[in-house]
Amino acid sequence: VTGVQTCALPISRAFTAPWGEDDALIARRLLPGADLAPEREARVDALARRLILAIRESSTALGGVEDMLREFSLSTREGLALMVLAEALLRVPDAETADALIEDKLGQGDFAHHAAKSDAWLVNASAWALGVSARIIKPGETPEGIVAQLARRIGLPALRTATRQAMRVLGNHFVLGETIGDALSRAGSGERRLQRYSFDMLGEGARTEPDARRYFDAYAKAIEAIGRAAGNAPLPNRPGISVKLSALHPRYEAVSRARVLKELTPRLLELARAAKSHDLNFTVDAEEADRLELSLDVIGATFIDASLRGWDGFGLAVQGYQKRAGAVISFLDELARAKGRRMMVRLVKGAYWDTEIKRAQERGLDGYPVFTRKAMTDLNYIACAEQLMALRPRLYPQFATHNALTVASLIERAGGNHDGFEFQRLHGMGDALYHDLRKAFPDLPCRTYAPVGGHRDLLAYLVRRLLENGANSSFVAASTDDDL
Ligand code: FAD
Ligand code: 2OP
Repeated sequence: VTGVQTCALPISRAFTAPWGEDDALIARRLLPGADLAPEREARVDALARRLILAIRESSTALGGVEDMLREFSLSTREGLALMVLAEALLRVPDAETADALIEDKLGQGDFAHHAAKSDAWLVNASAWALGVSARIIKPGETPEGIVAQLARRIGLPALRTATRQAMRVLGNHFVLGETIGDALSRAGSGERRLQRYSFDMLGEGARTEPDARRYFDAYAKAIEAIGRAAGNAPLPNRPGISVKLSALHPRYEAVSRARVLKELTPRLLELARAAKSHDLNFTVDAEEADRLELSLDVIGATFIDASLRGWDGFGLAVQGYQKRAGAVISFLDELARAKGRRMMVRLVKGAYWDTEIKRAQERGLDGYPVFTRKAMTDLNYIACAEQLMALRPRLYPQFATHNALTVASLIERAGGNHDGFEFQRLHGMGDALYHDLRKAFPDLPCRTYAPVGGHRDLLAYLVRRLLENGANSSFVAASTDDDL
């Protein structure tokens, strides 16, 4: 650890691990530990089947996302067209401009022909197209062309209204509330249990210092509000907050390391101290692989700060699709052990897969920091989960997944010892899965990650959810296929 870091980590090394190790080597290392005895495999199978049947049979069908897809009839071209427009409109700041956008784009007579050449306004909609349009759009058609046809058929005013409605549904589906106050009251009402929430203030990738300040303030206010509503239960049965480092600094990148350590670390520390004062769970989300070392520098320097002593709520997310995930967990364990403290570790598979692949290809690199076969990610996830379970209670595993087979494998591997870990899901996903899991294992806690914010900050989060739900390799999409 070099440069301006004010306090060296209390361990012998900074984090380092091979960036893009060969998949075959990793597979050889992990496969021997992946097998379970036949009777244990049978139990995994039985539970996974049960959960999948519950998902298929539940009245809300596939954990809500499918509800949304059905409500908007995305299996129709028109439903898709509405989503495409809604997605474009999410990036428009005010109603007047939104109307102008629709009319401008749809008012052009030969819009459909121009679209292929100047389709910047719909470029991000290709995220949708990747996910859901393959089965809807016929060869030669474009979403833009379908939007134009739809406008001719139902007229602009109807299209505008339908588009707004589509936006509301998208927003309401994945976001718990526009303000932290709304979100807290929704979280605390009815069957919902406020204790196991991790609120996420939407907003990331700050481009300017004022943006970063705005996001910092939103986190700080949210922590106070969550803290006031948190009740008296001890950790881990308490709510918390998830923060993204990219929201807190406009130059959160490896080439600005010195500046990041000097400016971003104190911001993270200030938020962590506020979370500590309410004994909340405070999780640093995992973002792009390029930022892994830098994130661990910032997180390490924050975690070891003496002012956080005595608090078990600090945590971070680790991405199983990264080849370095196991090394990250070892590093965290060393850090926690050196400070005699506990840390919460959310294990995810990773939400930036398309970005990672694209970036490595653009750079002409020989390899990838993430796996390129889904089965490798699943294998590594289970290996990391075993690693985390063995490191309890120093590390508190938080298994974040919507995959019933992954859930069943983890439960079997926990071997009846349900203490000292929890599951996590995203608001708007996994409802049916976790509803049934609670019936089967009432003692298994599940925390809900609940985004909070307005439409202006929704886009990046939303696109990741749409990719995740639409990708044909994803469990959520595959579980709709009754033949599987
Ligand atoms: P599955 O369908 O089993 O897995 C899908 C995942 O497999 C993809 O997301 C990708 O990671 C991986 N994958 C897909 N195709 C391939 C391929 N060809 N090769 C290799 N791997 C592939 N993500 C973050 O990045 N950072 C976070 O901080 C974060 N926080 C989260 C918090 C919560 C509570 C939850 C539930 C999720 C969070 N996620 C985060 C998102 C998470 O990464 C995705 O929800 C998760 O990857 C989906 O995995 P699954 O087990 O539900 O589904
Ligand atoms: C994301 O923002 C949930 O952190 C995850 O996609």
